Amino acid sequence: MTDTSNLVYVLNGPNLNLLGLREPEIYGSDTLDDIAGMLEDRARELGLAIDMRQTNHEGMLVDWLHEAQAEGARAVLLNAGAYTHTSIALLDAIRAIRTPVIEVHLSDPTTREPFRHLSYVGMAAAMTVQGHGAKSYLIALDAVAEGRI
Ligand code: DQA
Repeated sequence: MTDTSNLVYVLNGPNLNLLGLREPEIYGSDTLDDIAGMLEDRARELGLAIDMRQTNHEGMLVDWLHEAQAEGARAVLLNAGAYTHTSIALLDAIRAIRTPVIEVHLSDPTTREPFRHLSYVGMAAAMTVQGHGAKSYLIALDAVAEGRI
């Protein structure tokens, strides 16, 4: 059997496939592949492994959260994009699994439009890291390695 106790799922939601092109003044110039590369390097240093994915579909994120638990992953880093602010299904999915989930955002939604201030993901997540650009993902991975969740 494969040992998944050091495996961290990194799940990315809608429009994050366009990172680098999409509103760079807000989200920066790194692409999702650049972020995956940074995370893989850091994961290697920390003795972790990552499984990085992106989808534009809400239900796929729900399926992947269930899968993270079924596979025995150590944690999930979740940037749910705009579903963060709308998805009770994601809130329920995070509550339904025992695998700890860290909410991640490049920007800080709490300093942006009022409709971004509500986070359903944040209501269930073990921790939130936001506003550090691509570094938000690395900070979240460090928190997993240090057992802070
Ligand atoms: C985001 C913030 C969300 O409000 C937005 O809808 C995104 C990206 C971020 O990483 O800053 O798509 O999750």
